[in-house]
Amino acid sequence: MRKPTAYWEYIKVDELLALQGGLESDDTKLTNDEVLFITIHQIEELWMKLAVRELVSARDLFVQVPVPEQSLAAAVRGIHRMTELLRFAGEHFALMETMTTRDYLAFRDKLNPASGFQSAQMREIEILAGLPEEDRIPLGHEKSYMVMLKNHDGSASSAYKRVEARLSDKPTLRDAIDEWLFRTPIQGSTPDRADDAARVRSFIEKYVGAHQTSANQALALALSSALNDGDRERLAARYQREVDGARSFLLAEDVAEGPTRERRSRVRAALVFIESYRELPLLAWPRAVIDGIVAFEQSFVLFRQRHARMVERVIGRRTGTGGSAGVDYLDQTALRYRIFRDVWAVRTLLVQESVLPPVENASFYGFAETPHT
Ligand code: HEM
Repeated sequence: MRKPTAYWEYIKVDELLALQGGLESDDTKLTNDEVLFITIHQIEELWMKLAVRELVSARDLFVQVPVPEQSLAAAVRGIHRMTELLRFAGEHFALMETMTTRDYLAFRDKLNPASGFQSAQMREIEILAGLPEEDRIPLGHEKSYMVMLKNHDGSASSAYKRVEARLSDKPTLRDAIDEWLFRTPIQGSTPDRADDAARVRSFIEKYVGAHQTSANQALALALSSALNDGDRERLAARYQREVDGARSFLLAEDVAEGPTRERRSRVRAALVFIESYRELPLLAWPRAVIDGIVAFEQSFVLFRQRHARMVERVIGRRTGTGGSAGVDYLDQTALRYRIFRDVWAVRTLLVQESVLPPVENASFYGFAETPHT
């Protein structure tokens, strides 16, 4: 018979509580502030551990071709969990703020040059989610985050090896979702059809027409309260820029001409299609995925912003222990690190239902149909 399990054995309470001793390996020698500092970092690393697991699972669900409906339900649940994990992680910074600047400075020198910048799991989350390497803000030199993960003698630390392994763990969640979006039927047309490119193009043109109608309506409203001719010209130019921008985005003119541009254009058209006709039964899971991704990335950005505000409160604008510009560096990451850029970008293009082009092949998206992906 199995021996009865005790809580402390299962949760490993003794082992867990022995881990907050810092460099001294003895928490009785530390101030309450330092134990708090260590404990919060450990808790955050544990939340990140769970987020990494969820990211891997969600990514693995999306690489299936086709993605079964029940997998989409599981992926949406996992993405929601990551959103909540990052939200909780961000909320812990309030607890850190119970420590004064002076109390932190009392032990800060011990850390130097250690920094959250060396958190391998943070990098794993960014890499797995799909943050492009070329978007990273270097700490002085290229690939600096990898250099910072090395031991002082230049050898590869366990953190370095983890991140290195993650860099070759493909695809990223973003790429897997892009592939899945690429297969989305647009106006009932799928990429395997010979006339798909023409039908997607026709959808894009009609959608841009709807955008023009919407922009004209908004412009008419804005003009009615414009003060002078200069204002009117500026407004007209601004709305026209929006319409031109929508067209250029949907045709992926920012991508080099060829198959890559066509793919990108189809992915963006699919995003607009899902968002615009979100009440169609067959789009129920796709729209839940998109909503989940937006919430996840918003949570990630808020985590970065919350960390930066906490840092500003505790150490002001001084240089970080990792050698970065401190708050300035952190604020830049919050502003510039975006993974699911297209999912965000389509929000600028969406129009009210009343001007949308009608859905073609509406029955294709009905309850009785076979799922598309
Ligand atoms: C008093 C508390 C804290 C201060 C003053 C602080 C300060 C900083 C600073 C200045 C940086 C920029 C890199 C550098 O130059 O060191 C940084 C990065 C970082 N910190 Fe903190 N931090 C604190 C607490 C935390 C906690 C509790 C976490 C737990 C998640 C954390 C996670 C990170 C991460 C992941 C980075 C890398 C950010 C990136 O490169 O995008 N920090 N921290």
